[in-house]
Amino acid sequence: MPGITVSPINPSRPEFGAFVDHVDLDNLSDAGFEALRNALYTYNVICIKSQSNLSPKGQAELTRRFDPEAMSYGHGKTIDAKRSILHPDLKTVPHQPEVQIIGNGFVSEYEGLKNFTLKHPHHRTFHKTVIPDDQDLDFTRFYRWHIDAAMYGGLQPPLVTSLLAVKVPTGRTQTVLYDDGSNDTLRVPLGTTAFVSGYTMFENLSAEQKEFVLTTQVEYAPHPYVWISTAKSRPDGLGMMSEGKEVPVDELPPIENATDVQIQPMAWKNPVTGRFALQIHPSVVRKIHLRDGSVIGDLAKVREIVHDLQRPGIAPELVYAHDWQEGDLVLFNNHGVLHSVVGAFDKDEVRLFRQCNLAASRPPVGPEVRG
Ligand SMILES: [Fe+2]
Repeated sequence: MPGITVSPINPSRPEFGAFVDHVDLDNLSDAGFEALRNALYTYNVICIKSQSNLSPKGQAELTRRFDPEAMSYGHGKTIDAKRSILHPDLKTVPHQPEVQIIGNGFVSEYEGLKNFTLKHPHHRTFHKTVIPDDQDLDFTRFYRWHIDAAMYGGLQPPLVTSLLAVKVPTGRTQTVLYDDGSNDTLRVPLGTTAFVSGYTMFENLSAEQKEFVLTTQVEYAPHPYVWISTAKSRPDGLGMMSEGKEVPVDELPPIENATDVQIQPMAWKNPVTGRFALQIHPSVVRKIHLRDGSVIGDLAKVREIVHDLQRPGIAPELVYAHDWQEGDLVLFNNHGVLHSVVGAFDKDEVRLFRQCNLAASRPPVGPEVRG
């Protein structure tokens, strides 16, 4: 059997995104897995084609192989909270609870679930401003740039997320509008998933910004996805507007342990290349902890600092927008990329994906602590 082959998706960005071929996921030796893992951490988004036969169990086992000590779904049971903004977007595979079903439209039967309707997240439910209805099928927005992570309690950000395209409507493209005063736009396939590299985001910073990022930590909100449930996003999907609309902390579910509030480094280290990614979940960041021990708690200021660091990294030429085909299995390094749902479907356009990630067995690896 020939060994795994890896080929960059975009020759002009050979370090970001790769197709992996000649990989038999049903019979993946330790050496084969090691080659797959190296490809993942080198290219950060990898696609294996023609995996329609992969079972939910096989998908969960493959995802777990990147972090064998990890057990539960990345958000644990936190998405069950009715006020969580994640609640409507995910349906759990009954016999494989680490695997979620996402998509759009009516499905009569899938993996033991019957007669259910999936709803592709639409920016109108999350952004402060929206694209007018009569332009909605031609133009769209990045819904929400994020890391797949609960960012709360003992649930550390998953190392890897897998996405399997089971059913994909095709035939249209849309234009993403940044609508942030920049005139930036990006033509994308319908229902793409957009990725940007946290490594490029970091490497393009000034020397002064890099020093700041390497020595600064971010505090996330308690119950983050309930906290922002009443607030609205910026038009570029990269963080929230600061209008004082977040759920007040004393109206959130109780914080059981002070350590449930997560404080994470801004820079996360790649275990294979040693590179640092600027890796901040922009919509749920709440405070910034500086090297000298002082804390920036002014939310508007915190968000401006984070947006100034991240926005250059989502420039159109830096976005990889995957053109999904049925059977595509995409694995991405969730400690090294940000990603976003994109697009608006008609209600008749049926899309079905399976997603799996697992709360990591360890926190992200930050820089060595420097004095
Ligand atoms: Fe995600």
